[in-house]
Parts: sequence; C-alpha cells; structure tokens
Amino acid sequence: MNLAQHLQKNCECKDTQKTILAAASASIDIYQALKVQKIEYTHQENTSGETQLSHDLIADEILAKKLEATGSVSCFVSEERASEMCFIKHIPNKLVVAFDPIDGSSVASSGLAVGTSMGIYRGVRNFLEATGRHQVASVYFVYGPRIICVYSTGKGVHLFAYDEEAKQFNLEQENLKLKDGLKICGIGSLQKSDNIAGFTDLINHWGKEGFSLRYSGSMTADMNGILKRGGGIFAYPDSKLRLLYECNPFAFLIEQAGGKARDMCGRDILDLPIKAIDDTSPILIGATKEVEAAEKFLMKACKIN
Ligand code: F6P
Ligand code: MN
Repeated sequence: MNLAQHLQKNCECKDTQKTILAAASASIDIYQALKVQKIEYTHQENTSGETQLSHDLIADEILAKKLEATGSVSCFVSEERASEMCFIKHIPNKLVVAFDPIDGSSVASSGLAVGTSMGIYRGVRNFLEATGRHQVASVYFVYGPRIICVYSTGKGVHLFAYDEEAKQFNLEQENLKLKDGLKICGIGSLQKSDNIAGFTDLINHWGKEGFSLRYSGSMTADMNGILKRGGGIFAYPDSKLRLLYECNPFAFLIEQAGGKARDMCGRDILDLPIKAIDDTSPILIGATKEVEAAEKFLMKACKIN
C-alpha cells in the first residue's frame, strides 16, 4: 500500500491528507538537493542564532511552495523564518503548519542522516493560542540511504520508505509501538552538564544498567531509531529544542506509539503553552518506563518559567 492509499483509509480530513502528501512530495526534492548540491554556510542566522546552511533555505522554499499549492494550509511557521507566513488570511478550519525544513542540518556534510519534521494544527487562528494538543497530525522524513516517512493522524504511527523505481512511498510498518526495557539512550547538551542537577547521575545510571548510546546530532534520525527499534529514550535537558519544530511533532508521534514526552517538571510536552514561535523546552522522550526513570534524576533541574 502506498502513502496516498494509506491516508485515504486512515484519515478523514482531506486537507490533512493533502498536506502530508505535499510534504512527501517536498521530501523527494529536498533529498535530491542533499544528494547533488554542495552544502555551504550562508551569512544568515535563524531566530535561534544558528547559522543557516544553503540547504536549510532551499528546503524551506521547497516546502513553502508545496504547501501553498495544496490550498489546505492558511499559515505556516518555519525554523528558518522569523515570523509566521500566511498564504490566505484566517480561513476557518484550514490548517496551520510548523516545520523544521532540515533538522540536524549541520551533520549532513559529515554524511549523517538528517530529516524534516512537521506538526499540523487545526482549530487555531495562530500558534500563540495553541499547545501541541492542537496538532491533528505529525509527519517526519529521514534522509539516509533511503527516504523514510513516518506519520500519524491520531490513529497510530505508520512507517513508509520511498521506492525510487515506483516513485512512491510504500508502507513498511503499521502501528509502531514502544515497549519498555530497551536499553538505548540518546543524550544532548553534555556541554551544559555541570549546570544541570542530576545529569551526571543519570549518565552513570544508564552506564550501570548497560544502555547503548545512540546520539547522532540529528533529532529526527535519533527519534526514528527509537520508533523503528520500538523503545529507548532521547533526552535534551538544556532548553534548546523548539516546541513547534521539534518537541511537539515528535511528542505527538511518541504518545501515539504509547510512549511519553515530558519537560523534566512532570509536564507533558503537548500541554506546554506556546508563548513565542521559537519557544524551547527541555525534553525527555521515548518509552514510558525509560522517561519516568530519567525524570527521577532530572526533576531536580526543573525550572518553571
Ligand atoms: O535542530 C536541533 C538539533 O540539531 C537536533 O536535531 C539535535 O538533536 C540537536 O540540535 C543537536 O544539538 P547538539 O549539537 O547540542 O548535540
Ligand atoms: Mn532542528
């Protein structure tokens, strides 16, 4: 079964179907750009102060054009843009979309997998009225040896791979689920570990328990590893990862797969208010037991602001 057929069966909302298919079509062009064009730093920064790469901007443009053509999306925010962009003003019930065009882009030039992540919202006029619970769907793409597409519209999490010959995404795994007890961890923000209470104890705990480290510098690829293997945990205890572009889309998928995404203060990521489009949060995300165990160590570092 291909992606279009699966969406037809699994999602009543035509606008959501069209948006996911537009993102899938964009992913093929983004992958092509990654394969053929040299990756260079530009002289521009995004709102998080990260120097933008040529590919971040190319992917951003590709996605914006594909989304506009759907007629289903009124507005979007992108990690590469300073403010919300609207194709059409305030169309009730149309979708609003948040995406990171190339997540982890700085590791692409080392030959590592990178990805696109996207949260799709309905029923909000602007993101500042929303939480991650307003997402009606979430999708990501991983650009590695093949393009992998994983989506959820609130009815399970489904994985597809792009077939270059048939030129379509074919279903590989339906209803991905996370189980407890898989000893895989990813941990970012080591450089801040001195300032984060419980951080060193957590690393020692994982070491004693025999966890394997899987951390690539690209959250999308690492989250795909967790969903694909069916367990484990990814933690970024410093507040760097953005709610709209990274935390919310993955939290939606992980909850759908039976796991948890928390902010170190015991709050679900999906319940956090969005006060600015580039808001960030600490995140513990993965199988329930692993998240709850890590939370016991890192709760000490909870800062509610
Ligand atoms: O876009 C943010 C991001 O690149 C994630 O994809 C990744 O997990 C993280 O930042 C890497 O951060 P660091 O370089 O601090 O490990
Ligand atoms: Mn990112």
